[in-house]
Amino acid sequence: MTDELVVETDGPAATQAVAAALVAFIAAGDVVILGGDLGAGKTAFTQGLARAAGVDEVVTSPTFTLLRPYRTAIGPDLLHADVYRLEQLREVVDLGLPEQLEDGAFAVIEWGERAAPALAPDVLAVTIDFGAGDNDRRLRIRPEGPSWAARWPQVRAALAGVGAVAR
Ligand SMILES: Nc1ncnc2c1ncn2[C@@H]1O[C@H](COP(=O)(O)OP(=O)(O)OP(=O)(O)O)[C@@H](O)[C@H]1O
Ligand SMILES: [Mg+2]
Repeated sequence: MTDELVVETDGPAATQAVAAALVAFIAAGDVVILGGDLGAGKTAFTQGLARAAGVDEVVTSPTFTLLRPYRTAIGPDLLHADVYRLEQLREVVDLGLPEQLEDGAFAVIEWGERAAPALAPDVLAVTIDFGAGDNDRRLRIRPEGPSWAARWPQVRAALAGVGAVAR
């Protein structure tokens, strides 16, 4: 059984539905890292996850506010970060991301492949690639580390419900 799932989406709403399917599994201290080029849909994905978690503010790109907390309706606060530039990684660490994770928040980190080794060995990794059409994207989702691996059977079933398949 492969651990990577792939789902193709045909617009932001479909990408956000995939993100929403993950919310039921989110726990305090979790880190979701988002990869993919500029404009792939990392922020759009975060918006879908946030909305499903009951965030009533509109989640915007954290480019200028590098680490933004949002209250959710699921318990832990959502921390949204963007570490496109490497110095931003230092800054989000200085802004207290590790401590806030320990205190019970969870994080969604754009360009998180860069951040993961420094922040969390245990992440849910989502990579968004462009597809053929303007609104086509391919999302690859995989657990990295024991805590997401332990939840993977349930997460996998939920993702299958929004069109994800093993490849
Ligand atoms: N299938 C899709 N999934 C996600 N976004 C899509 C899709 N199709 C079109 N889009 C559009 O692509 C854009 C994605 O922008 P977004 O800001 O989410 O990208 P990003 O990966 O966060 O970019 P950046 O690296 O600049 O932060 C949005 O305008 C969104 O509406
Ligand atoms: Mg973005």
